[in-house]
Amino acid sequence: MAHDGYDIDEMISAKKIAARIEELAREIEAAFAGTDQLVVVGLLRGSFVFIADLVRVLNLPVEVDFLEASSYGNAMESSREVRILKDLSGEIGGRDVLVVEDIVDTGFTLHHVLRLLESRRPRRLETIALLDKPSRREVDIAATWTGFEIPDEFVVGYGIDYAQADRHLPYIGKVRMTG
Ligand code: HPA
Ligand code: MG
Repeated sequence: MAHDGYDIDEMISAKKIAARIEELAREIEAAFAGTDQLVVVGLLRGSFVFIADLVRVLNLPVEVDFLEASSYGNAMESSREVRILKDLSGEIGGRDVLVVEDIVDTGFTLHHVLRLLESRRPRRLETIALLDKPSRREVDIAATWTGFEIPDEFVVGYGIDYAQADRHLPYIGKVRMTG
Protein backbone atom coordinates (compact mmCIF):
# COMPACT_ATOMS: atom_id res chain seq x y z
CA MET A 1 0.00 0.00 0.00
CA ALA A 2 1.42 3.41 -1.02
CA HIS A 3 1.28 6.61 1.00
CA ASP A 4 2.85 10.01 0.93
CA GLY A 5 6.43 9.32 1.96
CA TYR A 6 6.02 5.71 2.98
CA ASP A 7 4.90 2.26 1.91
CA ILE A 8 3.44 -0.51 4.02
CA ASP A 9 4.64 -4.09 3.71
CA GLU A 10 2.47 -6.82 5.17
CA MET A 11 4.04 -8.41 8.24
CA ILE A 12 1.18 -10.43 9.80
CA SER A 13 -1.80 -11.40 7.65
CA ALA A 14 -5.43 -11.05 8.70
CA LYS A 15 -5.68 -14.84 8.57
CA LYS A 16 -2.74 -15.34 10.94
CA ILE A 17 -4.15 -12.77 13.33
CA ALA A 18 -7.54 -14.49 13.37
CA ALA A 19 -5.98 -17.91 14.00
CA ARG A 20 -3.88 -16.56 16.87
CA ILE A 21 -6.88 -14.83 18.44
CA GLU A 22 -8.75 -18.15 18.47
CA GLU A 23 -5.85 -19.75 20.37
CA LEU A 24 -5.67 -16.88 22.83
CA ALA A 25 -9.43 -17.00 23.41
CA ARG A 26 -9.19 -20.65 24.50
CA GLU A 27 -6.43 -19.73 27.00
CA ILE A 28 -8.44 -16.82 28.37
CA GLU A 29 -11.54 -19.04 28.71
CA ALA A 30 -9.51 -21.56 30.72
CA ALA A 31 -7.97 -18.87 32.91
CA PHE A 32 -11.31 -17.20 33.68
CA ALA A 33 -13.48 -20.34 33.72
CA GLY A 34 -16.43 -19.87 36.05
CA THR A 35 -16.35 -16.07 36.02
CA ASP A 36 -19.74 -14.42 36.47
CA GLN A 37 -18.66 -11.72 34.05
CA LEU A 38 -15.34 -10.66 32.57
CA VAL A 39 -14.84 -6.93 32.10
CA VAL A 40 -12.86 -6.62 28.88
CA VAL A 41 -11.19 -3.21 28.83
CA GLY A 42 -9.94 -1.93 25.49
CA LEU A 43 -7.26 0.73 25.53
CA LEU A 44 -8.20 3.32 22.94
CA ARG A 45 -7.70 3.92 20.26
CA GLY A 46 -5.39 1.16 19.04
CA SER A 47 -7.19 -1.86 20.52
CA PHE A 48 -10.59 -1.23 18.95
CA VAL A 49 -10.18 -3.82 16.19
CA PHE A 50 -8.49 -6.42 18.40
CA ILE A 51 -11.10 -6.19 21.17
CA ALA A 52 -13.94 -6.49 18.64
CA ASP A 53 -12.46 -9.68 17.16
CA LEU A 54 -11.47 -11.11 20.54
CA VAL A 55 -14.82 -10.76 22.32
CA ARG A 56 -16.65 -12.30 19.37
CA VAL A 57 -14.74 -15.59 19.74
CA LEU A 58 -14.57 -15.58 23.54
CA ASN A 59 -17.01 -18.04 25.13
CA LEU A 60 -17.42 -16.18 28.42
CA PRO A 61 -20.00 -13.66 29.67
CA VAL A 62 -18.35 -10.29 29.03
CA GLU A 63 -18.85 -6.62 29.56
CA VAL A 64 -16.90 -4.32 27.24
CA ASP A 65 -15.48 -1.05 28.48
CA PHE A 66 -12.86 1.37 27.21
CA LEU A 67 -10.18 3.57 28.62
CA GLU A 68 -8.08 6.07 26.72
CA ALA A 69 -4.62 6.89 27.94
CA SER A 70 -2.33 9.12 25.99
CA SER A 71 1.34 9.86 25.77
CA TYR A 72 2.55 12.96 24.03
CA GLY A 73 4.91 13.67 21.19
CA ASN A 74 6.04 12.21 17.96
CA ALA A 75 4.33 9.15 16.50
CA MET A 76 7.57 7.15 16.42
CA GLU A 77 8.34 7.69 20.12
CA SER A 78 6.43 6.86 23.28
CA SER A 79 6.81 9.67 25.74
CA ARG A 80 6.94 9.00 29.46
CA GLU A 81 4.01 11.19 30.36
CA VAL A 82 0.81 9.16 30.46
CA ARG A 83 -2.55 10.82 30.97
CA ILE A 84 -6.03 9.39 31.22
CA LEU A 85 -8.16 11.03 28.53
CA LYS A 86 -11.20 8.81 29.01
CA ASP A 87 -11.78 6.72 32.10
CA LEU A 88 -13.81 3.51 32.31
CA SER A 89 -17.58 3.94 32.24
CA GLY A 90 -18.18 1.09 34.71
CA GLU A 91 -16.88 -0.14 38.04
CA ILE A 92 -14.24 -2.89 38.33
CA GLY A 93 -13.94 -3.33 42.12
CA GLY A 94 -14.19 -7.05 43.00
CA ARG A 95 -14.52 -8.04 39.35
CA ASP A 96 -12.52 -10.05 36.81
CA VAL A 97 -10.80 -7.70 34.36
CA LEU A 98 -8.89 -8.25 31.14
CA VAL A 99 -7.04 -5.25 29.71
CA VAL A 100 -6.64 -5.39 25.94
CA GLU A 101 -3.71 -3.51 24.43
CA ASP A 102 -2.63 -3.29 20.80
CA ILE A 103 1.10 -3.14 21.32
CA VAL A 104 3.49 -3.13 24.26
CA ASP A 105 6.50 -1.04 23.39
CA THR A 106 8.29 0.86 26.18
CA GLY A 107 5.65 -0.42 28.60
CA PHE A 108 4.92 3.01 30.10
CA THR A 109 1.27 3.15 29.09
CA LEU A 110 0.44 -0.35 30.26
CA HIS A 111 2.34 0.14 33.52
CA HIS A 112 0.47 3.35 34.28
CA VAL A 113 -2.94 1.92 33.37
CA LEU A 114 -2.41 -1.25 35.42
CA ARG A 115 -1.40 0.77 38.48
CA LEU A 116 -4.56 2.84 38.14
CA LEU A 117 -6.82 -0.19 37.70
CA GLU A 118 -5.14 -2.11 40.54
CA SER A 119 -6.00 0.77 42.87
CA ARG A 120 -9.68 -0.02 42.27
CA ARG A 121 -9.20 -3.53 43.70
CA PRO A 122 -10.43 -5.83 40.95
CA ARG A 123 -10.71 -9.50 41.94
CA ARG A 124 -8.36 -10.40 39.13
CA LEU A 125 -6.53 -8.25 36.57
CA GLU A 126 -4.85 -9.75 33.51
CA THR A 127 -3.62 -8.27 30.26
CA ILE A 128 -3.48 -9.26 26.64
CA ALA A 129 -1.44 -7.50 23.97
CA LEU A 130 -1.69 -8.33 20.30
CA LEU A 131 1.92 -7.30 19.70
CA ASP A 132 4.98 -7.13 21.87
CA LYS A 133 8.24 -5.34 21.06
CA PRO A 134 10.43 -6.59 23.93
CA SER A 135 13.54 -4.87 22.59
CA ARG A 136 11.90 -1.47 23.25
CA ARG A 137 10.99 -2.13 26.88
CA GLU A 138 11.90 0.52 29.46
CA VAL A 139 9.61 -0.59 32.30
CA ASP A 140 9.71 -4.17 33.56
CA ILE A 141 6.27 -5.30 32.51
CA ALA A 142 4.80 -8.14 30.45
CA ALA A 143 1.26 -8.86 29.32
CA THR A 144 -0.29 -12.11 30.56
CA TRP A 145 -0.92 -13.11 26.93
CA THR A 146 0.78 -11.89 23.77
CA GLY A 147 -0.30 -12.46 20.19
CA PHE A 148 2.99 -11.95 18.39
CA GLU A 149 6.44 -10.85 19.40
CA ILE A 150 7.87 -8.50 16.78
CA PRO A 151 11.23 -6.81 16.18
CA ASP A 152 11.70 -3.07 16.62
CA GLU A 153 9.88 -2.06 13.44
CA PHE A 154 7.21 0.61 13.18
CA VAL A 155 3.96 -1.16 12.43
CA VAL A 156 0.45 -0.07 11.46
CA GLY A 157 -2.93 -1.61 10.76
CA TYR A 158 -5.44 -3.72 12.66
CA GLY A 159 -6.16 -0.69 14.85
CA ILE A 160 -2.61 0.65 15.02
CA ASP A 161 -1.86 4.04 13.48
CA TYR A 162 0.84 6.17 12.02
CA ALA A 163 -0.23 9.76 12.78
CA GLN A 164 -3.86 8.53 12.97
CA ALA A 165 -3.72 6.90 9.51
CA ASP A 166 -3.85 3.20 8.59
CA ARG A 167 -5.85 1.88 11.56
CA HIS A 168 -8.38 0.34 9.17
CA LEU A 169 -5.96 -2.05 7.45
CA PRO A 170 -7.04 -5.66 8.15
CA TYR A 171 -3.42 -6.83 8.58
CA ILE A 172 -0.33 -5.69 10.49
CA GLY A 173 2.08 -3.94 8.17
CA LYS A 174 5.56 -2.56 8.50
CA VAL A 175 6.19 1.07 7.59
CA ARG A 176 8.97 1.62 5.07
CA MET A 177 9.96 5.23 4.43
CA THR A 178 10.29 6.18 0.78
CA GLY A 179 10.47 9.98 0.78
N1 HPA B 1 3.31 1.63 15.52
C1 HPA B 1 2.44 2.56 15.94
N2 HPA B 1 2.44 3.08 17.17
C2 HPA B 1 3.36 2.60 18.03
C3 HPA B 1 4.29 1.61 17.66
C4 HPA B 1 4.27 1.10 16.33
O1 HPA B 1 5.07 0.24 15.92
N3 HPA B 1 5.05 1.36 18.77
C5 HPA B 1 4.57 2.16 19.74
N4 HPA B 1 3.57 2.92 19.32
MG1 MG C 1 -0.48 5.86 18.00
